[in-house]
Amino acid sequence: MKNTTPSGTGNPIDRVEGHLKVRGMAKYASEFPVSGKVYAQAINSTIAKGEITAIDTSEAEKQEGVIEIITYKNAEKLKRYDEELPSLLPDVIQPVLQSPKVHYYGEYVGLVVAETFEQAQYAARLVRFEYRTEEPRIHLDRQRSDAYKPEESSDYSRGDVAAGMAEADEKVEVTYHTPIEHHHPMELHAIIASWENGEVKAYASQQMIDNAAITIANTFQIPKEKVRVIAPYVGGGFGSKLHAKQHVILAIMAARKIGRPVQLTVTRQQMFTNTNFRQQNEQKMQLGAKKDGTLTALVHETLSHTSTYEEYQESCGTVSKMLYKVPNNKVSHRLVPLNLQTPFAMRAPGEATGSFALESAIDELAWKLKMDPIEFRIKNDTQTDPSNNKPFSSRLLTECLRIGADKFGWERRKMKPGAQQEGNWLIGYGVSGASRAAPYRETSSKVKLELKGGKVYATIQMDATDIGTGSYTIITQTASEYLDIPVDQVSVELGDSLFPVTPGSGGSWGAASYANGARVACMNAIRELNQKLNTDEDLSIQALLEKNELSSYETTGTAKPSEAFKKHSVYSFGANFAEVWVDKDTGMYRIKRMVNVGACGKILNPKTAFGQIIGGLTMGAGMVIAEQSRIEPKYGNFITRSFADYHVPVNLDLANIDVVFLPEEDKIANEMGVKGIGELGITSVAASIANAIFNATGKRMRDLPITPEKLI
Ligand code: MOS
Repeated sequence: MKNTTPSGTGNPIDRVEGHLKVRGMAKYASEFPVSGKVYAQAINSTIAKGEITAIDTSEAEKQEGVIEIITYKNAEKLKRYDEELPSLLPDVIQPVLQSPKVHYYGEYVGLVVAETFEQAQYAARLVRFEYRTEEPRIHLDRQRSDAYKPEESSDYSRGDVAAGMAEADEKVEVTYHTPIEHHHPMELHAIIASWENGEVKAYASQQMIDNAAITIANTFQIPKEKVRVIAPYVGGGFGSKLHAKQHVILAIMAARKIGRPVQLTVTRQQMFTNTNFRQQNEQKMQLGAKKDGTLTALVHETLSHTSTYEEYQESCGTVSKMLYKVPNNKVSHRLVPLNLQTPFAMRAPGEATGSFALESAIDELAWKLKMDPIEFRIKNDTQTDPSNNKPFSSRLLTECLRIGADKFGWERRKMKPGAQQEGNWLIGYGVSGASRAAPYRETSSKVKLELKGGKVYATIQMDATDIGTGSYTIITQTASEYLDIPVDQVSVELGDSLFPVTPGSGGSWGAASYANGARVACMNAIRELNQKLNTDEDLSIQALLEKNELSSYETTGTAKPSEAFKKHSVYSFGANFAEVWVDKDTGMYRIKRMVNVGACGKILNPKTAFGQIIGGLTMGAGMVIAEQSRIEPKYGNFITRSFADYHVPVNLDLANIDVVFLPEEDKIANEMGVKGIGELGITSVAASIANAIFNATGKRMRDLPITPEKLI
């Protein structure tokens, strides 16, 4: 049927939930008015390694309003992790308060429940713990001899890197460092948990509803059907809310113990110690190329850390396997167990940090070859993924570089560092390629149709989340397009485990998965209504209902990756261009402008997509200019514990940003041709800025963040 709605996918309509957001009516987890709810405050350990030897709750118990104090001594016994270091599998469980052992500074050691938030917070300070303290292991550098190969190893090699390096005319052998970074979504992690008739109900700020329900069910050993997770609006996640963390379990445990709904909010300071972070990485790169720019070898070795009780690795080498046609390639990751909480996914885990190393090293080698860094990249471009020999479903990296160069005015760039100056400012141009996998996962959706007053109204339901990304809007547009009805006749209901299962928002798979899932449900409705009439006339959805003499109809649909998807490497591509001005004397620098070009399939909504890239670029700029979490060297606590000391970019830090999407529909990626953009933006911003700084100053900045003192 010919689509007549101007509001279908591809149109920059306003966010459908925008008016709810600005009026404060889009409820976050802690805003639900659950009757009889009480408040909890978690208590953090004040040592990084050792054991609790005594707990005195007497003072806290006496305080007004205090209902319950939970420590490992009286906590419900939960399903345990294995004693060995396990990796974070999808059926992850989250035990908490199960033993007197302390593994990192700030680990939860207790919970106070009181009638009011203030009472809980006050009493929490009065619970006294005594510890037997052991020397914590908190230095990646000092502990490097403990490095081991992760169980879920992502080591990879092809060809012979030694031979490849021997063949090279020019080589780069350098090491890049990136620090621990924390994700700080606007909405704090929070939950209101209650138990009724053996069932859990949780309003919880989570990115993936089904995953949260599974974790809760596994931890409390109840069927998943007895867990309801609700999160209609989520104020950001960046990976920190992918899994249900320990506070979720704490609140549910407390609710069962006292028989009342319990609200628990992780404070901003606790988000430094209890909701994971991006790990510190040391990335050793070796690259070799022939005089003509042909890459002969690429080695990417990452040293990082995990906790002493779980295994997580940020795969920095992912991009180095697939971005360039290089016959000899080796990628490895090693981990050192430290007394810090387990690191976990933060926006483009592996790609953001790995691309900083790769795309900086590419720039270093281009400089040695006296080649333009764009031409060097294009010379080694490929339409076949060298890591698995699968064709890319679509790959417009060269186009991103060429079009970006044009838009940015790359021809004005001087190859020689410091050749462009204005007053005290050294002006540099930098570029970086970008790539991020564009996954797509099985997604189900329900569509309910209602014929009212001569109009068809549709409601789409799925357990998808909108973490600020625009899920409501793109799902609305999809239903509007495939049912051919205006957007104001479409309602979308998300974030409830009662709705059909989706993969949730993470890994840049949300938009593609949700849109395709909603599409299949709508197409099923049309097909089924046609079948009932035994017709294949091109009838409107309204005529279909009327001819069937139905005033309402509902059905479901499931979209999943096709065989073609599995036979291809499916990635989004991009390029980022940065102009940076560095003050000669102070090392202060300004990111004057950036041009970002993305080739990421069909853009469902240019306005929300633009927002995703801007957000990614901002986080990428944050990696370069300021973000780093510092650890107190003796006790192992984070000393950067608020926005006063953990700096993130502000408007002034990012002057002009231009975002371009290349027109593309990748029908191999999925039926709607959509690829992910959530993580593409952040990938490689860092390298483009560092490369611009080199172009301005002749100084290679290999350690993030690049603070002014490093430039003088
Ligand atoms: Mo993302 S780090 O998969 O939320």
